[in-house]
Amino acid sequence: MANTPKFASKIGMIAATVGSAVGLGNVWRFPAEVQANGGAVFLFIYVICIFLLGIPVMTAEFALGRGGESDATGAFRNVTPGRKGWWLTGLLAILSSYLILSFYMVVSGWTFEYLIQSITGDLYSSVDVNEGSLSQRMGEYIAGTYRPIVMTVVMILANLYVLLRGVQAGIEKMSNIMMPLLFILLIVFCCVSLSLDKASEGLAFFLNPDFSAVTPRTFINALGQSFFSLSLAMGILVTYASYFPSDAKLTRTAVTVSLLDLMVAFFMGIIIFPGVMTFGLQDSDLAGSALVFVTLPEIFAQMSGTRIWSSLFFLLLTVAAFTSTISLAEVSVAFMQKRVGLSRAKAVMTVVLPLLVLSPICSLPVGPWSGFKIAGLTIFDFLDTVTTNFMLPIGGILLCIYMGWVAPRSFFSKQLTNDGELKSRALGLIHFIVKWIAPVLIAVVLAGQLM
Ligand code: PFF
Repeated sequence: MANTPKFASKIGMIAATVGSAVGLGNVWRFPAEVQANGGAVFLFIYVICIFLLGIPVMTAEFALGRGGESDATGAFRNVTPGRKGWWLTGLLAILSSYLILSFYMVVSGWTFEYLIQSITGDLYSSVDVNEGSLSQRMGEYIAGTYRPIVMTVVMILANLYVLLRGVQAGIEKMSNIMMPLLFILLIVFCCVSLSLDKASEGLAFFLNPDFSAVTPRTFINALGQSFFSLSLAMGILVTYASYFPSDAKLTRTAVTVSLLDLMVAFFMGIIIFPGVMTFGLQDSDLAGSALVFVTLPEIFAQMSGTRIWSSLFFLLLTVAAFTSTISLAEVSVAFMQKRVGLSRAKAVMTVVLPLLVLSPICSLPVGPWSGFKIAGLTIFDFLDTVTTNFMLPIGGILLCIYMGWVAPRSFFSKQLTNDGELKSRALGLIHFIVKWIAPVLIAVVLAGQLM
């Protein structure tokens, strides 16, 4: 256990963890969910989910990670050596995060391609917004055989570079540079968006709730989104928390990370909806990949300074995706180091190099092999559905049962109070939520997915 590296500073610790949480989930998935679930009312319920469930479950995951001081499987073994079998929960998380990584890397390749094409201006050459040429361009690009693969490989190699440098010199240093950059870019985009003609109409849709639009689905989707966005139940937070210094305040860190993640999602709403209203876009423009790869470029094409705004936006997206892929990969890297006993370099190679084959396999079916389906879905959509709709909630329920019922309560309180040094007024409440409320609500979400 002594050889577990630690983040060098509290800022680095927060930056890395926020870097993991803030990703395509905030920038891409969140606005699409808001649009599909009735606007402000979804935001309202989402905020409740973050406070009621997200923060307590994140705190529990931090406690398991720092107290267990190992990879996502070893943490269970270290906390309750007598309780055999719980490490399998960690293995499920590792498997889920690796599967997510394999297709997330493909999307991060798209973001990088769009960054390059924005800089060169190719994305907007001979574009006629009204003719839907950006949508066609996106379709053609994804269907291309070699270019999406090249860009995915570039992102894989970038991951390899940072991960090989290790926790402090790689992950922490990169996060310390990229996270401030991301927040600056977000603020710039908020200012631009608020100056658009119909900004107030967009804000009204995003911020004035219409409670008559609430359905059980709204709750299910909001809870699912909060877990996805906060990187919960993927082994990521257990792994990163094992790198937290022993004097880090876990509850406070969970609140900070969750609120920063919420803030990014909120900013994305402020950025997108004024644009949607001003440029009169339809619901279908906001679904899935269309939002960031078609709708936003359409908006940029109608603004002055198209290439600059487009480049800055895709830079933001590439940064957000990159820091998340790093954290998804680190889960398996830590496992290879701790359980299989590999050196860091070998562990990184073992985890990252297979992606050179796996990720293209995920992207290929979107292209010329689009006829290949599993359960009626492309490999890409199949992996997305299985991991986020099923493996993630199952992992969440098991994590809560473990931290609420199996791990001793004294372990929980020792972690939250830093061995009695701090007062933790929220301890009882957090433990209660993790033990009773969170597993039941997540089970409801899971059941909802099956219906
Ligand atoms: N939290 C990140 C995001 O919102 O994009 C990364 C991520 C973690 C995505 C875990 C999905 C996931 F299941």
